[in-house]
Amino acid sequence: MITFKNVSKSFNQAMVLKNINLTINSQQIFGIIGTSGAGKSTLIRLINGLEIPSQGSIELDSKIQSSMIFQSYALLQSKTVYENVRLALKFSSIPKKEHEKKITDTLDYVGMTEKSNAYPSELSGGQKQRVGIARALVTNPSLLLCDEITSALDPNAKKKILALLKKVNQELKTTIVLVTHEMEAIKEICDEVAVIDQGEIIECKKTEELFLFPEKKITKDFLSDIIYPIAPKQAELNKGEAVYYLLLNAEQYHFFQKNVRNGYVYDIKTVHIKGIRYFALYLISEVDIGSAWLQEHTIRYERKEINVP
Ligand SMILES: Nc1ncnc2c1ncn2[C@@H]1O[C@H](COP(=O)(O)OP(=O)(O)O)[C@@H](O)[C@H]1O
Ligand SMILES: [Mg+2]
Repeated sequence: MITFKNVSKSFNQAMVLKNINLTINSQQIFGIIGTSGAGKSTLIRLINGLEIPSQGSIELDSKIQSSMIFQSYALLQSKTVYENVRLALKFSSIPKKEHEKKITDTLDYVGMTEKSNAYPSELSGGQKQRVGIARALVTNPSLLLCDEITSALDPNAKKKILALLKKVNQELKTTIVLVTHEMEAIKEICDEVAVIDQGEIIECKKTEELFLFPEKKITKDFLSDIIYPIAPKQAELNKGEAVYYLLLNAEQYHFFQKNVRNGYVYDIKTVHIKGIRYFALYLISEVDIGSAWLQEHTIRYERKEINVP
């Protein structure tokens, strides 16, 4: 467990983290999302002691051993995959006679056995990041700190790296802190998420809740590509019509299809949030559906008043 208590961090005169209070439970995948410059890297560097708080304190379980993974992979170009992973063992407490087996086992775990003797320049981005993960895992850390580790990868490689992190979390019981500016990376694997903006945590909750009930504008902006379909434009509405944004689960969507006749669906998006399917749609309706009905039959709704001349 990691606990931030009223932590602030300043560089020169500028306060880049302001009064952070945060609890990260063991064996969780904890996401931290924010735009560039929000303070994410500083926050993660406070956890492993690369930075110290200007105010407040950070408490870690006594036995925590952490490893860090970076967006830039940070591999040595003149060394092979095997040698890069071996470097991490140099200063570890793992006895030397166990190193070889440990390295081969770890490379196997991340699916890089066949590239053991390759150099970083011969690898794709996704493969380089697998080596980054192997180098982090080889010392048996209980905490994995990941700073934008999928940000430079193509969508397919991103998915695979996230799946690997999930496997590490589930099988090795490693606590993972995942820093990113991409909600897509949070969606599949994080248990809990903190949204950070200008050095402050503005929203912190379970991933499902953040997606289904976002409160802050910045959170909604982060979610916009994922959970909001295309909204109708003013000109396309007739007088008296209203637009509703509806978020439904599968059962509600089925009910909706059977029962809602006086309206049409403008655009619809299907989203899987932690494996559960939801439907987000814009409905244009001539009649007032009524908030009681909406409350009963949707997860979330917003009635948008659009004035048509
Ligand atoms: N060592 C440093 N010295 C001075 N300013 C820093 C230092 N590290 C980070 N900052 C500043 O702190 C702010 C947050 O940076 P950072 O934590 O890297 O944000 P993020 O990772 O969210 O992009 C930025 O304005 C950055 O310029
Ligand atoms: Mg950063």
